[in-house]
Amino acid sequence: MNDTMRQDAISRVGITIAIDGPAGSGKSTVSKELASRLGIGYLDTGAMYRALTWYVLDRGIDLEDTDAVAAAATEMVLRLHSDPSDPHVWVGQTEVTEQIREPRIALAIKNVSTNLKVRAWMATEQRRRMMEARQEGSGMIAEGRDITTVVCPDADVRVLLLADQEARLRRRTLELYGDATREHMEIVREQVEGRDKADSAVSEFMTAAPGVETVDSTGLDIAGVCEAILAFVDEDLASRVA
Ligand code: DC
Repeated sequence: MNDTMRQDAISRVGITIAIDGPAGSGKSTVSKELASRLGIGYLDTGAMYRALTWYVLDRGIDLEDTDAVAAAATEMVLRLHSDPSDPHVWVGQTEVTEQIREPRIALAIKNVSTNLKVRAWMATEQRRRMMEARQEGSGMIAEGRDITTVVCPDADVRVLLLADQEARLRRRTLELYGDATREHMEIVREQVEGRDKADSAVSEFMTAAPGVETVDSTGLDIAGVCEAILAFVDEDLASRVA
């Protein structure tokens, strides 16, 4: 199938695509590229956890107070632009697209992302966004840590994107510093390993659940990873379009 044929099929049957993977596996870049090519929405679920962390810090809410943090999730007015070429995030009237990438957010986020009440709220919200897009005769690609398993285990296409540890660190370091010197790699190593460890306590994103396809991006460029995932998309669409 080419992209026009895929878009035509999606306009008839809709699609949900779930992509999980650890930090630096390339899932954001690949998900945005695929959403553009398929003409569907893009949902960065990590940005939702980041936005809540920003809100909790902004309001001076105690990060350790799990009930107060969970209540903040329900009261926060969160707006995400699902256009993959222009992803923006607002909390209330404040645009937080840049601010949620600041190191202070990454440092505090594990208190939010390991809060099980927050996770339950996030899963409901994220699933609602995916299903609405599918029902509207379009679709959504959502990327995160628990999309294939908790948020949308019934997604039409489910992929776990992996890459070896050094390849992931190199990618993240390039993203953050624009280079991959040994010094910068070591700083990022500490952050990423700490965060992966905290995250893996609440979601399994290093081993594929039954029915989830694994794609290893270590030796592949973005185009190669996209092609691998598109093969699963084609298989799904062919099975559902008469
Ligand atoms: O993908 P990211 O680095 O923007 O994610 C930010 C944090 O949110 C990270 O610590 C993992 C967590 N997260 C999660 O627990 N579940 C998701 N579905 C997405 C992100």
